[in-house]
Amino acid sequence: MPDGMNVNYDGLIPNNVDLNTDARVRKALETWHPGYIDWWKDMGPEGFQESLVYLRTAIGVDPKGWAKFDYVKMPEYKWGILLAPAVPDRKIPFGKHKGEPAWQEVPGEYRALLRRLIVVQGDTEPASVEQQRHLGATAPSLYDLRNLFQVNVEEGRHLWAMVYLLHKYFGTEGREEAEELLQRRSGHADTPRMLGAFNEATPDWLSFFMFTYFTDRDGKMQLEALAQSGFDPLSRTCRFMLTEEAHHMFVGDSGVQRVVERTVEAMKAAGITDPHDVAAVRALGVIDLPTIQKKMNLHFSLTLDLFGNEISTNAANAFNAGIKGRYREDKLDDDHSLIDATYPVLRCIDGKLVEEQVPALSALNLRLRNDYVQDAQTGVVRWNRVIEKAGYDFRLSLPHVAFYRHIGEFANIHADPAGNILSESEWNARKDEFLPNDSDADYITSLMVPVAEPGKYAGWIAPPKMGIDNKPGDFEYVQIVA
Ligand SMILES: [Fe+2]
Ligand SMILES: [Fe+2]
Repeated sequence: MPDGMNVNYDGLIPNNVDLNTDARVRKALETWHPGYIDWWKDMGPEGFQESLVYLRTAIGVDPKGWAKFDYVKMPEYKWGILLAPAVPDRKIPFGKHKGEPAWQEVPGEYRALLRRLIVVQGDTEPASVEQQRHLGATAPSLYDLRNLFQVNVEEGRHLWAMVYLLHKYFGTEGREEAEELLQRRSGHADTPRMLGAFNEATPDWLSFFMFTYFTDRDGKMQLEALAQSGFDPLSRTCRFMLTEEAHHMFVGDSGVQRVVERTVEAMKAAGITDPHDVAAVRALGVIDLPTIQKKMNLHFSLTLDLFGNEISTNAANAFNAGIKGRYREDKLDDDHSLIDATYPVLRCIDGKLVEEQVPALSALNLRLRNDYVQDAQTGVVRWNRVIEKAGYDFRLSLPHVAFYRHIGEFANIHADPAGNILSESEWNARKDEFLPNDSDADYITSLMVPVAEPGKYAGWIAPPKMGIDNKPGDFEYVQIVA
């Protein structure tokens, strides 16, 4: 077998990184473990810790068969440390060290930079578990409940993945960072999580689907960029995390689609012709399309902020150093050093949006964000097909990148979803048209009643086309134990 394909399942921590022969790191992780379990019990899914959940667990890193499905109690989930197989003779693919052998140890000069990137990535993983911890109480079906928990346990594993790197490669500082990852709390006034979108509430299941579609997709883009890293253990870690991440986005993508399906189906059955007749649609107990659009506006714009400033010396430094690459760097056909290249950036100058050419190295955050927007567009096209097929003249769309931004070029202006600049008073007068308001939130909350009978679904969401692991429609994905 290629290096790294063997997973050891004997000890407390399943792994393919030879923990058995690395007493120092094994000890450090075993010491960290009880704190993690305490965190999971305190801040993980509320009310379902004793229930049996039909979950997949990573048992290997072979793309053809890396997971097995079974019933588990979540606190007993096997959170393992799994790295994608090493690529023999891998070289640093970009930046000023391009072509040199990939690093197997942390290069001293980039220690602080690498640690920071790993901690920021690591912090998002437990944050999303915290944000989603109340959703179990209102799950629209056992199928959805199981998907929520699957996402949650895997975000927990992603935390393990980053904590392993911290313990293995960053000494005392790494250990302290690993502790702090268990101490920050999403939305906490004094010790919040590090990034804005991970301190927002996920109050209902439409938000959950939007979050897994839009915000987990930011995770995908960040992992893709780090998977290119010249620091090989980070690259291998992120490559394996991406296999799990795909399911998280599937949950969001199919979740939103099922909401849209149910809405247009109910509208058609009731003979409603105007999708903007919100009161008539809501009387049917489904979520009207304009409200779905508003939720999209919110989650998309919050997620764009995660890419940071469009123009960034940090991003340039990380690329130059060979630490964080571009999306699919290995598939790009250029010199991979970008010294003389330029890149167009939409900027806000004197209150107007203008495109400017800037050095490509300084625009790498934006470039990743542009790749993200393109990737995020694919689901919207699918959702619109459902609306079109039902015969409705309504299309969902991603808002303009200047809409409702808190970081970067557009943080100091107001724009509508089409990108028209608004004055402060215009924004205040109209923001309820663009973003979910209190009455939208109250309506959605009123729909959030749990459905726990196998094969049954809440009235605002269509059943999925297929079960998980090919299970039949009435499969009991969660055996609830109160
Ligand atoms: Fe994750
Ligand atoms: Fe995720």
